[in-house]
Amino acid sequence: MPIKDHAGLPLTGASYKAADLYGQALTLYHSMRGDPLGLLAEAVADSPGFVMAHVLTADLLLVGTNPEAQAMGVAAFRSAATLPADTRETGHVQALACMVEGDFSAAGRILEDVTIEHPRDSHALQAGQLMDFCLGDSRMLRDRIARALPAWSDDMPNYSGVLGMLAFGLEEAGFYARAEAAGRRAIELEPGNTWAQHAVAHVMEMEDRRRDGLAWMMRESTGWQTDSYFSVHNWWHTALFHLGLGETAEVLRLFDGPIYGAASDMSFDMLDAAALLWRLHLLGVEVGGERWRRVADNYEKTSAAFGQSAFCDAHAVLAFLGAGHPDAARGVIEAQKAAMAGSGDNPSMIRDVGLPLTEGYKAFAEGDYVTAIDRLRRVRNRAARFGGSHAQRDLIDLTLIAAAQRGGQDGLGRALLTERANARPLARGDEARLDRAA
Ligand SMILES: [Fe+2]
Repeated sequence: MPIKDHAGLPLTGASYKAADLYGQALTLYHSMRGDPLGLLAEAVADSPGFVMAHVLTADLLLVGTNPEAQAMGVAAFRSAATLPADTRETGHVQALACMVEGDFSAAGRILEDVTIEHPRDSHALQAGQLMDFCLGDSRMLRDRIARALPAWSDDMPNYSGVLGMLAFGLEEAGFYARAEAAGRRAIELEPGNTWAQHAVAHVMEMEDRRRDGLAWMMRESTGWQTDSYFSVHNWWHTALFHLGLGETAEVLRLFDGPIYGAASDMSFDMLDAAALLWRLHLLGVEVGGERWRRVADNYEKTSAAFGQSAFCDAHAVLAFLGAGHPDAARGVIEAQKAAMAGSGDNPSMIRDVGLPLTEGYKAFAEGDYVTAIDRLRRVRNRAARFGGSHAQRDLIDLTLIAAAQRGGQDGLGRALLTERANARPLARGDEARLDRAA
């Protein structure tokens, strides 16, 4: 009989020691901190036939477009696929097979079925929520987790992780008050839960509570700055609060420090860096060529990944345009066109959102505001289709506002600012700043 984890789920092929290491890694996975991969390597060394240790290794590595991480993730998946597994574990392995093929929809569906049968499988909940994130599926970000709640209670290990996922799902679905409550409760249970930290930051971003946001990010007893592989993104959120307050010098200080001081070439770090510089650029802030160049250089190094993720490609194009490399931007667009013939979810993401968006960004940089406005208006209401969060996709609206203003389409510009003021009533001062930038 295989031994069981804290939630009563059998772990095929695990010793007690390996199961304990996997349990620790799973908690770190939920809170996006520490070194879960190191713990899993120990677990595999102890119990090479422990299928879920290979699965979690693959889940950690297969999100993103970095070639090295991808290759290691595929290797972990292949190891898992050769091992004995029960029905639940087989579901995880089948979901990985779909992820490897770029079929996030199918992976998310398989994991959905796993958690319908095993709602206490927090590993499947999180891997599934990441698929919902990649697909921009705000309803499933919320409902995948909501369905499992009756099987959970405060005293169970990883309940904080489940609440953190719920908080992010509620936020993306627009239920801000409940999202904040769930996120705060998750942090009470597990102060180091950086995904819950992040979910509450999203609430404050969407509600334009910038001072609340800074207080939340800078409060004592938080570990997200020091012990999280997700810290760049949370610093990016912190920078957005400063940006909303007009504190651009502080934004640049954060960019040069915790956001891009280390010039990470991880895809999620690069895209945050590019997005932040572009936001500053739209506001008329002079960021200097050196900052753009560092981001663009790293995109250049990972150019083999162009065409694999419409969401990442859009940010690569911003980096190249910002750095003054229009040929490199064109190269990304060509890679997107070539990738449209492929399989999985990405080709339709490119067709529906990614390609018109990169063409729109390029036109904007060239001063062709008529084309930029056409492309950005085409995608803005369906942009969720290519993944990411509302906060990340706000860049599309901000660029469209700037294009309307710079292109002399005053009526459209005014309409966009008015709709924004209605949707974000607390964002006093935004309108004037965006107007000034024009
Ligand atoms: Fe975020």
